[in-house]
Parts: sequence; structure tokens; C-alpha cells
Amino acid sequence: MVDILAKKRDGKVLSDEEIRFLVEGYTAGSIPDYQMSAFLMTVYFQGMTAKETAALTMAMVESGDTIDLKDINGVKVDKHSTGGVGDTTTLILAPLVAALGIPVAKMSGRGLGHTGGTIDKLESIPGFHVEISEQKFVELVNQNKIAVVGQSGNLTPADKKIYSLRDVTATVNSIPLIASSIMSKKIAAGADAIVLDVKVGSGAFMKNIADAKALAETMVDIGNQVGRKTSAIISDMNQPLGFAIGNTLEMKEAIETLQGKGPEDLQELCLVLASKMVLLAGGMETEAKARERLIEVIENGKALEAFKQFLKAQGGDPTVVDDFDKLAEAKYQIKVKTVEHGFVSEIIADEIGMAAMMLGAGRETKESKIDLSVGVVLHKKIGDHIEKGNIIATIHSNKEDVSEVVNRIQNAYRFSGEKPEDVPLIHGYF
Ligand code: URA
Ligand code: CA
Repeated sequence: MVDILAKKRDGKVLSDEEIRFLVEGYTAGSIPDYQMSAFLMTVYFQGMTAKETAALTMAMVESGDTIDLKDINGVKVDKHSTGGVGDTTTLILAPLVAALGIPVAKMSGRGLGHTGGTIDKLESIPGFHVEISEQKFVELVNQNKIAVVGQSGNLTPADKKIYSLRDVTATVNSIPLIASSIMSKKIAAGADAIVLDVKVGSGAFMKNIADAKALAETMVDIGNQVGRKTSAIISDMNQPLGFAIGNTLEMKEAIETLQGKGPEDLQELCLVLASKMVLLAGGMETEAKARERLIEVIENGKALEAFKQFLKAQGGDPTVVDDFDKLAEAKYQIKVKTVEHGFVSEIIADEIGMAAMMLGAGRETKESKIDLSVGVVLHKKIGDHIEKGNIIATIHSNKEDVSEVVNRIQNAYRFSGEKPEDVPLIHGYF
């Protein structure tokens, strides 16, 4: 171990065997935290080559169980977002892609902190559950082309252990470490192909485009080196996506998007990501063609039909799609007015996410119970002009006193005297 540390410290390249030794030893407990900490810090400063990063990824994949999806017909494409606020894309993408006959075998998690989890959002549908056996999961995907299961088993224990150590050694923010961490989880969950949505902006992990680009390129490189077709986009997180933040509220927004009447930014991002998924699955020759077909299944109702079938297959009530009154509603709806005026120039997404969490929409710790009905609906986004006293958002709450949440939302909005330039939704394709 000391030789490996010295080699990396001096900027030399580690072999696959050395990297595997390190990850296996650390997972098993024969390599102590202090040596792994030193290793992570050398990586932070020296970086890793593409080959080293791929070896690290595969060593983490092999540290635990892997999900075997070979009994599912077709190319299994997964999508991953590096974390956004109000990001409802999975709920829309999955039925959209499935409606074109491409299998979506999705393993999802619950939300932690101010970003939401797909499973929590799905549980806003009465009766819906994700506790299905592996066999049932495979069966459902073959039948309906879509199923979502909760995270189970001992996937990538090396990543869990290393991630905790990174957290306390100031080594989270290293591109090869982030890239290998994300990719190892997708690969262990059985993906043949992966579409990545790297977020950039005030509400994202990556604050500038150069860093987001480096992360996107590193992940695409890993995928291609280990035989998983991978592509990525960089998308904007200088404001939350769509208007709704909160579990049931986002479910409604997802259904509206599947009906062709969702927010423009959310619909566009879904079409871009879904086109890439279709392309990687080999379902279409060009992205333009895929996009055409995806718009078609929104317009002819097939995407919504796939969504209803999916809800029903996992115990959910599919009639909620046509009747939102069957979804839980918070007791109070409180309007938030501005005390400023001007053009909205930015909406700090983290702050809106925190506001929703304070209402009970998100977990402060893994054990927290959440309230599916609460959250925030924005009425104004970047570029909109606002006079003092205009309503910028509505709070959906089960608590009457929301003064702190009101402040938080007001402070999340930034204004400028002039109309800001249009920010592109997509900053790059890889
Ligand atoms: N998300 C992950 O899964 N891993 C990281 O290292 C960073 C973000
Ligand atoms: Ca949203």
C-alpha cells in the first residue's frame, strides 16, 4: 500500500491490479482509513488517467452484488442526473421511452436533503409500491417495458465506504472520484447503456461549465472503456426545473407533461434525454427521428397509457391521471409576494429545495418521515418581469405558520433592472 501511495504521489500511473488491490483491501477492512485517505488526497491533486478511472469504477462494481438483467429482452438504457431541484424527468422519460418499446428497468432511490427521489414521488399515487421481487421486476419489464424497483442488495459497498471517507477528508470534489462513484452504481444496477444529465449552475454540484464538461467527458469515457454505450448532456440548474417542487406536486407536473401540457423547460429536457436513450437502445437511426416519434406518443396518448399501465402493474390507482382530486392536497395554500421589482435573473435552486424541505417535502436525515402533499409551486421564472407585490410562488403546507419559508423563497429570487439574456437549457452534448 505504501508503494502504491508513493507511486500516485509522484504522478505515476497505477495498474489495474494495484487499483483492484486497493479497493478490495479497503472494502474488506485490511487497508485502514488513514491509508485510503492519503490515497484519495493524492487523487485529488494528481488526478487519474481515463484507464485508471475505468479500473477504479470496475473495482467498485465488483466490490458487491450486481443486478443481472439478461432475462430482459432488448438493450437496457438507464439515465442518471447529477442532482437537481424539482427534477421530475425520470417520471416522464420512463413511460415515454417504454411507449416506443424500449425496456426501462429502473432502480431508484428515495430523496435525501433538498433533492427529491423518484420513489417518493411515485408513492404519491395511492397504492403504488416498489417492493417487488427480482423475478417480478423482470416479468413486468418484459410485459409492459417499464418497472421501477427500490434499491436493494449490497450494491457497490466500496463506493459507500469511500464516499463517507471523502466526505470527511475534503475529497468529494474530485472529477475522477465523482465520475467513478456515479458510474459504478449505474453499472452494478445492470445498465447496458447510460444517458447522463450533468447539471450546472448555482443549484448544482458543478458550478461552472468547464467543470461540468470535464465530469461529462470523464463519465462518457468510463462507459465507453467498460463496454457501456454512454452519452451525456450538460443542462442548466440556475433555476429549478419546471414549476413544481415537492412529491405530489411534481407527480402532477409529470402527468401534465405526458399529456403535452407541461412546462416548456421540463418537456424540452425530457425530449432531449429520451431521444438519446432511444438512440443508445438502437431503436432509431437519428436523434431527430427519435424526437419525432417521442412527440407522436405524447400526442396520441400512448406515453400516458404506458404510464397508467405501469402504475396499475405496481398496485397504483391509474385513474388519478384523469382526476387529480384523488391525490393528496395540503391543507393550506399560501401565496408568496415579492418585495422587490425587476426582471427575475436567477432562482437559487438549492434555496427553493430547502424551502420545500422545511415544509416536510424532503428528508433531513435518512430516518425522517416526509409529507408527500407539501411543496412549492413557482409562478415566475428567469426573464419574467415583476412588480412589487406580485405573486411569485404558492406554498402548499400542512402548517399554518410558514413565515420562514416565505423568507427563504423571497431570498432565492434574484432580480436585475434589465431583461437578462436567455440562458440555454442545454449547455453541451457528449
Ligand atoms: N454523486 C455520487 O453518487 N457520487 C459522488 O461522488 C458525487 C455525487
Ligand atoms: Ca419540477
